[in-house]
Amino acid sequence: MTSFDPTPAHGLQRLIYASRQNLPPDAPLDEVVADIIQASIRNNRERAITGLLLVHEGWFIQALEGPGPAVRERFERIAADPRHADARVLEIEPASARAFADWNMCARTLSDADDGLLDALAERESLAPERLDARNALRLLKAVRDIQGRAGFG
Ligand SMILES: Cc1cc2nc3c(=O)[nH]c(=O)nc-3n(C[C@H](O)[C@H](O)[C@H](O)COP(=O)(O)O)c2cc1C
Repeated sequence: MTSFDPTPAHGLQRLIYASRQNLPPDAPLDEVVADIIQASIRNNRERAITGLLLVHEGWFIQALEGPGPAVRERFERIAADPRHADARVLEIEPASARAFADWNMCARTLSDADDGLLDALAERESLAPERLDARNALRLLKAVRDIQGRAGFG
């Protein structure tokens, strides 16, 4: 019996956006992110959406990939979430394959352990979230994906 693939390659889209966190100063970021991921995994699994959420110094950068209509619908829902603001879409493009196939959603908060990446963020203006473009955003998220994979949380 052949397995059913809900996401034929021709319908796959990837959306990447950056947004500003909009949380009370005393909000426990880890708990906020854990709540987001819990809802995300449940909702995204039903829609064959995979992705990665990067949490860094007041910013979110997220990739969503899956069937085009589902990705756009989820993004509209996410963009209206008051826990962040100013969501700026960097890319919404057909994708030939998933780059974040391992997770319906996974969050990574950059920490001191991510020396190389943090250096790159600090030194390379083009990697600052407010200036990030589609190419650099995907590079950054893929670098985080690779760290995440090595750390064994995948
Ligand atoms: C930065 C950020 C990323 C989010 N990512 C997702 C996501 O990938 N999928 C999702 O369903 N909800 C995501 N959410 C949560 C949605 O905005 C919304 O709260 C949630 O989908 C509601 O789920 P429920 O109706 O099942 O309670 C995200 C929220 C924020 C602030």
